[in-house]
Amino acid sequence: MAATNLTGVVNNYLTEQRTREDTQAVESLAAVFGPLMQTAESPSLNIRLRESADSLDGRLMLLDQDGKVQYDSFNTFCGQRLQLPEVLRVLSLGEMSAYGMHRPGRETVNRMSGEAEADYVAYGVHELLDSRGRSGAIVYVSRIQGMMDSLRSVRIQLITVFILIALAALMLALFLSRVLTTPIVNLSRTMRKMGKGDLSVRVPEKGSGELRQLAENYNIMAAQLENLDKSRNQFVSNASHELKTPLASMKIMLETMIYQPEMPAEMRQEFMGDMNHEIDRLTGIITDLLTLTRMDNRSDALNLEDLDLSAMTAETVRLLTPAAEKRSQRLEVNAPAGLGMRGDRTKLNQVLYNLIDNAMKYTQDGGTIRVSLERDGGNLIWRVRDNGVGIPKEDQEHIFDRFYRVDKARSRETGGTGLGLSIVRQMVTLHGGQISVESEPGRGSCFTVTLPANGKGEGA
Ligand SMILES: Nc1ncnc2c1ncn2[C@@H]1O[C@H](COP(=O)(O)OP(=O)(O)O)[C@@H](O)[C@H]1O
Ligand SMILES: [Mg+2]
Repeated sequence: MAATNLTGVVNNYLTEQRTREDTQAVESLAAVFGPLMQTAESPSLNIRLRESADSLDGRLMLLDQDGKVQYDSFNTFCGQRLQLPEVLRVLSLGEMSAYGMHRPGRETVNRMSGEAEADYVAYGVHELLDSRGRSGAIVYVSRIQGMMDSLRSVRIQLITVFILIALAALMLALFLSRVLTTPIVNLSRTMRKMGKGDLSVRVPEKGSGELRQLAENYNIMAAQLENLDKSRNQFVSNASHELKTPLASMKIMLETMIYQPEMPAEMRQEFMGDMNHEIDRLTGIITDLLTLTRMDNRSDALNLEDLDLSAMTAETVRLLTPAAEKRSQRLEVNAPAGLGMRGDRTKLNQVLYNLIDNAMKYTQDGGTIRVSLERDGGNLIWRVRDNGVGIPKEDQEHIFDRFYRVDKARSRETGGTGLGLSIVRQMVTLHGGQISVESEPGRGSCFTVTLPANGKGEGA
């Protein structure tokens, strides 16, 4: 489109310019040869005509009123009638001048302009005037093949350039669309797979810039989802296992009672007591599970209020003292008055309760448990220290995991579910705090809870 427009413009420019030049040339020649026709001798007129024709690199002819050739710079048409449309326009229609470009066939061109292998020729005709008025016409046969040739080559060049540009643009567009769409196609394919449940697929992290970042972030998200999925499955299978154990032992006791109807009354009584105990365990596990999952969903946001942590610590210790005394354990507390923060009363109570409960459970009769509260810069720190059985190094990083127990048998004996510390850690984390443990087997453990005193709980 643009190419043809542009060649059109070039075409018009060149032909118009040539038309103007040729028309001007014939006009000035007419002014010279009009009077000469009347006065000059024919040999000298012939010579001047040939000279002018040579300097124009064309052919000149002088015609009389009837269109008959009187003089011809080629000297071949003399006496003949010239049947050119331009001659007709000037001599018959009375126009002053006429100009036309033609493609009459090679033979004619050769005969008219003397050029071989040329397709184009132009005729410029102008009336001749002498003192009596119009006496005939001058014909200029102009060789325009050269101009047409260069026009053609310009046109070919332009079209070639435009085709090349169009090809380049097309390739660029294809390339760009590949570069841009491939990562997006990959991403959406991966998303569809993940949507169908395959959480292990990842997007290739290729390219650069925003698309790469998108892929990376997507993969991070996918990895987290996969982890979450795995730990959920793990949690469900652990939970089922924990629930099955008490059920299985209750079933054994029940079957024994069914198949031995003559069982002694006191044995039956003992079985019933054991079953009651197992039911308590089941209830405990389920209560803990509910606490954990409720915090997971955050449906249970923190219930923030101003807390007097000093008073809370003393109160919890007071509640647990009778149990400690039963096992002749010493329960000491060191909590200076007036330390407080914003927090959730029930949850922080449970944190301390669980830690002291553990310390008592995993400390032999007659042991000592020390509870302390202190301020350290912007933090409040709880420490629960015991001189009990301690925790082996390799277990220390796992005790906060759900259902993890160092000594399963002992924990079950004491009624533990293995969920206590994971609940504690969740609650501390919800308050923006941290929990850590130091322990040496056989010598005791120390749990440290660090809480930000300005109480910026996540759920607040
Ligand atoms: N003070 C402690 N001394 C020794 N071991 C402890 C102490 N506290 C916790 N543990 C270990 O960590 C495990 C996980 O504790 P927890 O989650 O409270 O479960 P549970 O008390 O129900 O067994 C316990 O089974 C025990 O092995
Ligand atoms: Mg516990």
